[in-house]
Amino acid sequence: MSDDSRASWGSKIGLILASAGSAVGLGNLWRFPYIAAQNGGGSFLLIYLLFTFSIGITLVFAESALGIKTKSDPTGAFGWINPRLKIIGIIGVLTSAIIVPYYSVVGGWIVAYIVKSFSTISIENFETHFTDFISSPVQPLLFFYIYLLSTATVVYFGIENGIEKFCKLMMPLLFLLLIVLMVRVLTLDNALDGVKFFFLPDFSKVTAKTFLNAMGQVFFSISAGMGIYITYGSYVKNNDTPVAKTMYSVVILDVMVSLLTGLTIFPAVFSFGLPMNAGPALTFITLPKVFSAITFGQFFGFIFFVILLGAAITSSISLMEVVTTYLCDQVKISRKKAIFYYTLVCLVTGTLVSLSFGKLSGFKIGGKILFDQFDYLASNILLPVGGFLTAIAIGWVLGPEKLVISKNKALQKGFEFCIKWIAPICVFFILLNAVGLI
Ligand code: TRP
Repeated sequence: MSDDSRASWGSKIGLILASAGSAVGLGNLWRFPYIAAQNGGGSFLLIYLLFTFSIGITLVFAESALGIKTKSDPTGAFGWINPRLKIIGIIGVLTSAIIVPYYSVVGGWIVAYIVKSFSTISIENFETHFTDFISSPVQPLLFFYIYLLSTATVVYFGIENGIEKFCKLMMPLLFLLLIVLMVRVLTLDNALDGVKFFFLPDFSKVTAKTFLNAMGQVFFSISAGMGIYITYGSYVKNNDTPVAKTMYSVVILDVMVSLLTGLTIFPAVFSFGLPMNAGPALTFITLPKVFSAITFGQFFGFIFFVILLGAAITSSISLMEVVTTYLCDQVKISRKKAIFYYTLVCLVTGTLVSLSFGKLSGFKIGGKILFDQFDYLASNILLPVGGFLTAIAIGWVLGPEKLVISKNKALQKGFEFCIKWIAPICVFFILLNAVGLI
């Protein structure tokens, strides 16, 4: 299993930063605020935090420990537990194939907004500007192609050096800017109403769907359930990296970015009296409005979208890396070929997804356009299914005591209990509910 020719991270911090780069992304800065808004604010936050520090963190530990131990892509890693379990890795690869296209469509919107930040749009026009833009046939596609090809290029050149350096620069900058922005937004009129909405739970809004959506958000946001951490862990050189100590900082970072984003977006929404149910458009309408109202706003807007792009690309890279590592390790084709074919698949599916806001908006399954279908399928179904199977494979087939995540006895026992009982049972019941069986 140890293979000296396998690439590896420069340092332990490399694993942390690359993992944080994967976790912190559109899930925090774009998806989290609108999903939280649609699910009642404070009560959603509570359930989200609960799931993060129970199921989420357990899966992150389990996946990375498995990757470090097996030094293999997800199919190889699960195949090591039992050859029949390879299928879990394949589900992960499929999930990535579904996420990358629509993730990159949003990535394209960001590139477009960076370009747009050089011209001024008048305040009243932000809504129509955004909806006109995403529903037009050519522009969003062009920007989507630019984003996807840039991601593919970074993955092609190898991530070890590129991504480590990139994240080292991006992550602190992202934090700094978010804090500056948050402070500015919190001083706006009625900002406090937004803070209240974000923090005060309203349990009358909690339904079974809230749990499903919160769980979907947790999996999506910390990149759990499809073998990212197995893949990244497989590039760790030695086997004695204490997983819990290393990886909990990734989870904390991820949660912090979501909290900061909530504390920026909600006060802004309330202060400008905007609708909370804007859905995926929330970041693209609300924030530009805020920027246009503050001093040097145009500059801030530009910087914000650049940072958003950095956060998004490091996540896209991780998604692409799972498929690339799989194709190289299992199908035994070259990295170049793997990226070429996979990018081609994403180009085609992404084009359809992008057009679902315009020309193809009439094509709906279960009342949802293709974009929402992809997101629902990946976040609310496939990632939890992947997480469930991972928990079963490690908790019941392998035996959780075979994965040492900490020298601390209590922590190790807590992990074993969670992966064996809490994670599978919670996920199972929520999924049963999602498919309408309970
Ligand atoms: N976590 C990333 C975000 O918050 C998205 C992401 C990257 C992801 N890699 C993943 C989600 C793997 C699920 C699985 O934007």
